[in-house]
Amino acid sequence: MTLEHQIDGPEDEGFARPDGNGPLGADLERRDGAAKVCGAARYAAEHHPDGMLHGVLVRAPGLGPVRLVNADEITAIPGVRRVFHDARMIRNAAQGGAGKAPVQGVKAAAYVGQPVALVVAEDFATACEAANRLRVEADGADLPVHPKAGEPDPDKTKDKTTGDFDTAFSEAAVTLDVTYTTPAMVSAAMEPHAAVAEWDGERLTLHGALQMLRDNKAELADCLGLAEDKVRVLSPFIGGGFGSKLGISADCVAAALAAMELGCPVRVVQSRRQVFEVNTRRTETSQRIRLAADRDGRLTAIGHSARVSNLPDESFSEPVLQGTAFTYAAPNRLLHSELVRIHRPAAGSVRAPGEAVGVTTFEAAMDELANEAGIDPVELRLRNLPEVEPGSGRPFSSHRLAECLTEGRDRFGWDGRSPEPRQRREGEWWIGTGMAAAVRVNMVSDAEARVTLTPDGRALVESDMTDIGTGSYTIFGQIAAEALGLSPDDIDVVLGDTDLPPGSGSGGSVGAASTGTAVWLACEEIRRAIAGRMECAPGNLTMAEGHATCGNDRRVLQDVLSGQPLKGHGKLAPGAAMKKVRQATWGAVFAEVAVSDVTGETRVRRMQGTFAAGRILNQRTARSQAQGGMAWGLGLALTEALVHDRRDGHAVNRDLAEYHVPVNADVPHLDVRLLDEPDDWAGPLGAKGIGELGICGSGSAILNAIHHACGVRIRDLPATPDRVLAGLA
Ligand code: MOS
Repeated sequence: MTLEHQIDGPEDEGFARPDGNGPLGADLERRDGAAKVCGAARYAAEHHPDGMLHGVLVRAPGLGPVRLVNADEITAIPGVRRVFHDARMIRNAAQGGAGKAPVQGVKAAAYVGQPVALVVAEDFATACEAANRLRVEADGADLPVHPKAGEPDPDKTKDKTTGDFDTAFSEAAVTLDVTYTTPAMVSAAMEPHAAVAEWDGERLTLHGALQMLRDNKAELADCLGLAEDKVRVLSPFIGGGFGSKLGISADCVAAALAAMELGCPVRVVQSRRQVFEVNTRRTETSQRIRLAADRDGRLTAIGHSARVSNLPDESFSEPVLQGTAFTYAAPNRLLHSELVRIHRPAAGSVRAPGEAVGVTTFEAAMDELANEAGIDPVELRLRNLPEVEPGSGRPFSSHRLAECLTEGRDRFGWDGRSPEPRQRREGEWWIGTGMAAAVRVNMVSDAEARVTLTPDGRALVESDMTDIGTGSYTIFGQIAAEALGLSPDDIDVVLGDTDLPPGSGSGGSVGAASTGTAVWLACEEIRRAIAGRMECAPGNLTMAEGHATCGNDRRVLQDVLSGQPLKGHGKLAPGAAMKKVRQATWGAVFAEVAVSDVTGETRVRRMQGTFAAGRILNQRTARSQAQGGMAWGLGLALTEALVHDRRDGHAVNRDLAEYHVPVNADVPHLDVRLLDEPDDWAGPLGAKGIGELGICGSGSAILNAIHHACGVRIRDLPATPDRVLAGLA
């Protein structure tokens, strides 16, 4: 009834493998595209159950214990139904994942702007008005809000050393010792966090904007004191998440408890300002990078220390050094990370946690080293690629960085580049090129999916897996079509409902590969059942064009089914493969920029990204993911920074006018090339995560191009015009 598979190695259990000629991998447009552009796709806030009430979150003006001053007066406003000030709201739903939401103390604000109350009214305008008039007082506890004031948490201090760093560093022919900083960032998804909760007296149904439904169900149940089977979460369409929707958000808890208490459906939508101030941020980082090399540019020592921050009690610590651990060989290594506890909104995963900031800075430092050593930046990287994972000695499941570097170099037209900065000028513009390697760990997650082959010769794929704009609906249709010998048009895909088998969720780039593999396993189970009916060894069964064929026995699927649907249930577990080998995805990014000598403005003229992420499941959605990542890399290099007030830590630039993400006018042609080759260690599909790879390194290519253009090295990101101008002066 369930086909379980655990990935312990590159071998499988005789599963069918995609042959490369079917719908899998094809350049197919997203099947939900039309519904989205026509407004037919309903997002969380667009649900309007009868009798729905409207809730507006009210937030703490300061730190420490909070008190509602005029709750009675607010409750008396006509149309207001209740003011909630419930300890459960203070639970901070930062990262999620463990099925439990961390508690940040009872009725005490851990950061300025934390939601502490909910005003519920019959209409939205009344709720907003009442929420504005609700006065909240905070004790104003004196707590550290700035990373420099925070204390490192001993439980979160990690050191990993190999060899003798100090000696190697002091004896090296070429050395570099630099400190880079990256600012706090926010996910800045287009769709605000929103929840519509309904309570039937026994079971809670929540329409939310969430990435990881099986975890979110557990978190919500934990928060509300309900059994998990009394909670149903639906999130079939999500307008972007980028990590901020990994865990349940304040609107979910508030809407749920209000619906349960009032017995009416309740909707809570975060305002744009709340989206910036209430949800997880990416931590700011301070990173010291030390590199030592011999005269040929072979690294003898790598040192990388990172300081990050988070709220007390939050377990997440930005894994800044994740990429550094396996990208380059060097016998002597010193990796150090520490986390300080400060009272700003919780830090969590934001697009490519770890590598997005760690690889960006490290690849900029590599560019500096290339300059110091007088070696071409591509060549420097090629000389330092490891045979096995440094430190652990584990083999790589597949290592394609060299290929990405050399193919990208050719495609971009890198050869013949003068290594010296300030060589090309067009009017007020300095022109330069830069490059960086891109790496990202590959993860596999538990995932389940169900596939039903119906007597009309169609199939239905079901899972609670989400599609955050990545293409899950489309890709799963392709996977089932490939496995069952149908057309993608013959496959219906239903996702985003916890009443369906638990998928991986969309996080850590695991969605398409992990849940997709569960879909493949479910189809494999169906194939085996069909083989059984045809008295055929599963390996000899061919399914194509709506027919099952075994030797001379060729039957229309409808005949094999004889009027009854056939179900398969696939269940994937990561297994030992994750430990035996280092699985990663690879890339190289090249950029050409123009930097104004007058204003310090940087315009990116073109970018090329060559990426390897195992089997490509859909050329178009994979390319879009890579392009999206490269655009985010552009933002990371040039525009993105969440600024916190030094006095109380609240977010200052809390809307899309002040927090700058790249817009179309900022993004040039992004050329993407995908090296498509299955990684057998990643499961029977051989697919790896691609969602977050594009951002890793892309920003660095731009920073390095800025240096090549005008000679200014920006080590405090982002490279805004004022900083570039200061360097030019
Ligand atoms: Mo991602 S930052 O794991 O949603």
